[in-house]
Amino acid sequence: MAQILPSLLSADFANLQRQVEEVAAVGAQMLHFDVMDGRFVPNISVGVPVLKSIRRITRMIIDVHLMIVEPEKYIETFVEAGADWVSFHHEATAHANRVVQQIHQAQARAGIVINPATPVSVLEQILPAVDYALIMSVNPGFGGQTFIADSLDKLQKLKQLKLATGARALTEIDGGIGPENIELVVKYGADLIVVGSSIFSQKHPAQALQKLQALAAGAEQLNKAER
Ligand code: DX5
Ligand code: ZN
Repeated sequence: MAQILPSLLSADFANLQRQVEEVAAVGAQMLHFDVMDGRFVPNISVGVPVLKSIRRITRMIIDVHLMIVEPEKYIETFVEAGADWVSFHHEATAHANRVVQQIHQAQARAGIVINPATPVSVLEQILPAVDYALIMSVNPGFGGQTFIADSLDKLQKLKQLKLATGARALTEIDGGIGPENIELVVKYGADLIVVGSSIFSQKHPAQALQKLQALAAGAEQLNKAER
């Protein structure tokens, strides 16, 4: 079953607890937490103290997306602060395999992320070692951007690579996803779908999420029927 992960980047930071409760109430099981350092990406978001506060108010799985240089310096800190899943960018380290080991040693699930300009082929060697691979469908750094269309092609390539390598990593996609394209990303094989502004920038976030869940479930039924 494809999961939708509400991304707190677009939430109302003065009312985070309320926003988390709103999406939990309609069945969200995972939250996406974006960390930006102003170096790897041209923006700064939130970090460890905010993650600790969110951890205290929810048992949902927290998926931390590190958009930072030298991710290896902060893995244990983020896991101690409450991250269940941690992803880092292929482009941000020369030692992806070591970072994956570090995340696993810290007892978290490990994900590797690729930017829009990075080909799926760079994942070939690392794929069997990770729990999930995240395809950025916008250039990381900001919410509310337009979905880059060739990300669908990358989803398809990732599916083929998983088949070829026997890797069981889940496929996550992040950026520019809303009611107009969620069915397509499910069709192309996304298991974990990050959605920020199409939930939290809407007047009724819970309703917006429910609508997306229904669309994703419909697309999944079609996938099953075609198999
Ligand atoms: C962007 C972040 C995303 C962001 C997505 O760099 O990684 O998680 O919140 O926001 P939307 O869904 O608005 O594109
Ligand atoms: Zn993200």
